[in-house]
Amino acid sequence: MSKVIWITGAGRGIGKAIAEAYDQKENTLILSGRTVSDLEKVAEGITTHTFVYPLDVTDELAIVNTVREVIDAHGKVDILVNNAGMSQRSLAAETDTHVGEKIMDVNFFGAVHLTRALLPQFLANDSGDIVVISSLSGKFGFPQRSFYAASKHALHGYFESLDLELSKTNINVLLVCPGRINTDISKHALTSDGKTHGQVDNAQKNGMSAEKCAAKIKTAVERRKKEVYIGNSEVLMIYFKRYIPGLFRFIASRIKPNG
Ligand SMILES: NC(=O)c1ccc[n+]([C@@H]2O[C@H](COP(=O)([O-])OP(=O)(O)OC[C@H]3O[C@@H](n4cnc5c(N)ncnc54)[C@H](OP(=O)(O)O)[C@@H]3O)[C@@H](O)[C@H]2O)c1
Repeated sequence: MSKVIWITGAGRGIGKAIAEAYDQKENTLILSGRTVSDLEKVAEGITTHTFVYPLDVTDELAIVNTVREVIDAHGKVDILVNNAGMSQRSLAAETDTHVGEKIMDVNFFGAVHLTRALLPQFLANDSGDIVVISSLSGKFGFPQRSFYAASKHALHGYFESLDLELSKTNINVLLVCPGRINTDISKHALTSDGKTHGQVDNAQKNGMSAEKCAAKIKTAVERRKKEVYIGNSEVLMIYFKRYIPGLFRFIASRIKPNG
């Protein structure tokens, strides 16, 4: 069946891999992000109908206008993937609150604003999938990720509540918690003063491929899952925290945050 799929942060990393995973001839892909050249490059490599809609998810007015343009042009959105995000590499004690606000604006409010702007059409159609790319850091804290973990925890509070409110509809909300995925996320992560970290951490390089992660996300959407954990052995930390919290603390406080 033909689907319209809107992916934010689609110019690189996990978002690009998700776009490629949905490259099937009946689908229409909407690719968003700030760097138009990245989005166009991704679109060039995709064979199905693909449209680039540049969007900064921190710009509320741009969100409203872009939603209107997308619905006017394509009639509906079946799957919204709130993927745009940025990480952090700095100690809580040293990190300016403004840096935290920036991370919250992108990771949390960005997903909330876009979802809210699209909710009326999801409700009118009584169908759709709202996918939220959280993180294992949405399930537990981690050194040098204070604001990042806070933004991802916030996603769980908001979107789990939304999903419960939608329980009598045919709209599903899926929270995706990847572990370490091999992308450039650490390069773009913010440090204590808001500058970018600028390097790809070893842990990131040794992580699961973005393609494998995207395939698992697609399967979870198809199965209408509510929450999914994706990664290698780091996923075990979820269960350590839940069942053996002492072991979780022992390991989490000793892992090198930059790998
Ligand atoms: N890689 C991992 O290990 C990992 C683990 C857990 C969760 N995640 C989550 O997965 C998602 C994707 O991360 P990634 O690893 O693919 O990182 P990435 O390669 O750095 O990609 C991040 C994407 O978000 C976009 N973006 C950033 N700020 C934006 C804004 N204000 N408006 C619109 N788009 C924006 C970027 O495009 P522009 O800069 O062009 O806007 C880019 O396409 C994030 O939510 C991240 O937190 C990643």
